[in-house]
Amino acid sequence: MQEKFVQLKEKAKAELETITSSKVLFDVKAKYVGKSGEVTALLRGMKDVPADQRAAFGKMVNDLKVEISELFNEKEVLLKEKELQEKFDAEKVDVTIPASPVASGSIHPLNIVKNKIFDAFCGMGFEVFEGPEIDTDYYCFQALNIPKDHPARDMQDTFYITDNILLRPHTSPGQVRTMEKKQPPIKILSPGRVYRADDDASHSPMFHQIEGLVVDKGVSLCDLKGLLDEFVKIMFDEDTKTRFRPSYFPFTEPSVEVDVTCCKCHGKGCNLCKGTGWIEILGAGIVNKNVLEMSGIDSNVYSGLAFGLGIERITMIKYGISDIRTLFENNVKFLKQFNRR
Ligand code: DAH
Repeated sequence: MQEKFVQLKEKAKAELETITSSKVLFDVKAKYVGKSGEVTALLRGMKDVPADQRAAFGKMVNDLKVEISELFNEKEVLLKEKELQEKFDAEKVDVTIPASPVASGSIHPLNIVKNKIFDAFCGMGFEVFEGPEIDTDYYCFQALNIPKDHPARDMQDTFYITDNILLRPHTSPGQVRTMEKKQPPIKILSPGRVYRADDDASHSPMFHQIEGLVVDKGVSLCDLKGLLDEFVKIMFDEDTKTRFRPSYFPFTEPSVEVDVTCCKCHGKGCNLCKGTGWIEILGAGIVNKNVLEMSGIDSNVYSGLAFGLGIERITMIKYGISDIRTLFENNVKFLKQFNRR
């Protein structure tokens, strides 16, 4: 019997040597000391042992079980350590490897310019009011002092849905809608898409404008000049100057076209400004009294200034873009240039 015990222990030891994973170890351990293991099976021979030797026999089997279990436990500790180390090695991260580049989008140049215009005017106390893109003849023309059949309508040939409903050709209806709702003091910007039946390198059938309107007591052309002088300094650079040229818009009287000193040659004359040193950026003027009155504002008490600028135009001047269509083609190579990270 003694011999059998020794043999079993030797067999377990030999088998233990061959084991290289804790998972296999667990199964082999059960084969010896588990419920139906070989050591446990020895106890079944108890009935053949003379009664006076049974206690000693039981103790021997138990001791053997403890010894074999300990051998397995020791090996288990070693294997677990080895496996943990292998796991660490496999999962090792080299923090010095350069990261793969993350592709990020960029803000569209029209939005960069729009945000800058908002910043400039909102810093001077303007609020933003958005009007509808599809509007009526009344708001687009009549309330802006452009009666039906007035020749000035040719300046803004747009897309009609019915005789009375059209895609707005400018953001100037924002003036009227604001004045109908609110008494002075008024200081608003009205941005958005506008539509015209035009399509070439400098005109697009859809483009963006921002309308500005100030109505209060004693508003004059001087205020307009001061406001726009401040704006162009923020938009272009500190040295940029403005000049007013007389013009005509039915909704303003007097009306002006506003030029800025060329941002490329600073007034010396270059291809961008066609040698003049000046570039036209917007139309503006003192709100025509008829427009104030039609919108319910007493023109004997209040006066207003208004201006309308094209975001595409300012963007093209600022970034030296010669074809308006590049702004809408979504060519990633073009748009990437504006990524200012
Ligand atoms: N609505 C004009 C246009 O689309 C731009 C404009 C000119 C707006 C003069 C104004 C203004 O408010 O006073 O061409």
